[in-house]
Amino acid sequence: MNSSSRRKLFSPTRLGAISLSHRVVHGPTTRLRAKPDDSPSDMMVEYYRQRASKGGLIIIEASNVSMRARGYLGAPSLYDDSQIDGFRRIADAVHAKGGKIVAQIVHCGRTSHVDLTGGRAPIGPSEVPVNTVAFTKDGWQPVSPHEVMSVEDITQVVREHRDAARRAFEAGMDGVEIHSANGYLLDSFLHDGSNKRTDAYGGSVDNRARILLEVIEAVSALRGADRIGVRLSPSGEWNDMVDSDLEGTFSRVAELLNPLGLAYLHLIEPRIKGDDAKAGFENAEPVAAAQLRKIFKGPIIAAGGFVGEGAEAILQRGDADAVAFGRWFSSNPDLPERIRRNAPLNPYVRDAFWGGDERHYTDFPVLEEATA
Ligand SMILES: Cc1cc2nc3c(=O)[nH]c(=O)nc-3n(C[C@H](O)[C@H](O)[C@H](O)COP(=O)(O)O)c2cc1C
Repeated sequence: MNSSSRRKLFSPTRLGAISLSHRVVHGPTTRLRAKPDDSPSDMMVEYYRQRASKGGLIIIEASNVSMRARGYLGAPSLYDDSQIDGFRRIADAVHAKGGKIVAQIVHCGRTSHVDLTGGRAPIGPSEVPVNTVAFTKDGWQPVSPHEVMSVEDITQVVREHRDAARRAFEAGMDGVEIHSANGYLLDSFLHDGSNKRTDAYGGSVDNRARILLEVIEAVSALRGADRIGVRLSPSGEWNDMVDSDLEGTFSRVAELLNPLGLAYLHLIEPRIKGDDAKAGFENAEPVAAAQLRKIFKGPIIAAGGFVGEGAEAILQRGDADAVAFGRWFSSNPDLPERIRRNAPLNPYVRDAFWGGDERHYTDFPVLEEATA
């Protein structure tokens, strides 16, 4: 495929109030390089500055809404006003290059460890345990047993999302993405394998989605729903997500999101499990966006396993409005330009994904340097 056939990727679009001049989106990728107080570091500012492009969208890595929400030491947070300044520096750097920027906010829920939560047990919808690890000062450790959330806990978590979003907007972000994917707290409410509640937050899909809808309502009250995106992983699996009727659950969730006027719905394809291709499914066709496109009427960002051709193809089919790239953006600061020119990509370095310094983070060459 030559560059002139990537017409749709390099045409303008709008995601709610966020207008873009191309559709190559930087997907949220946790890199664990924040400062000890969880505020963004200088190297993070530089990382996002390098990846910003005129009219392009950067979604920055998951940022914790509270101390108890943390699941990874080194991930940035938005639970304290003192953290705003670091985010402002990132937003300013991206805006200076003419780019747009959205902050993803997360509560890691069950997937945490008492070393990260200030000594308190992590929280989740029900007693069902999760078999996964959290990143602590002693490295990757099995998660701690969690507590079942009371309705007061749910109210508090909703408030924490609102307050984190308020800080993101104060930092100058163009929008906020609510992380309801990959088995973290909000996703663990959606799936009936992890949500066994018998109150208003469990049972029917409408009940399981209630906390997500309350979070959306709370954050939308700040600057409007057209600056709010929601990320879903409708194929489950990562962090032990299971559901007795995945298609039914996520079709209904998409129906519930429809009238809210969101900026976008961000969907992870089932060929991806968390942070990597699912073994044996690397070449599977994308299906998640196509399935939910039939229901969700607003803009859709597709993510998971895309390179240039597949990205153009999904846009041409009309199944998505923009495409997010995770791993390839990590090693290609000028990814949009490389895709546009059909230029070779720098390989990414998985060993440097979680924690470390500038090496394999801000030292990847752009095209001119690579070809000089
Ligand atoms: C290092 C790394 C960190 C990630 N961190 C996040 C994150 O903070 N939030 C999120 O929603 N997804 C996260 N993901 C998932 C990516 O956003 C994306 O869905 C996944 O990498 C598949 O896309 P890709 O094939 O373009 O890499 C992460 C993935 C990787 C590789």
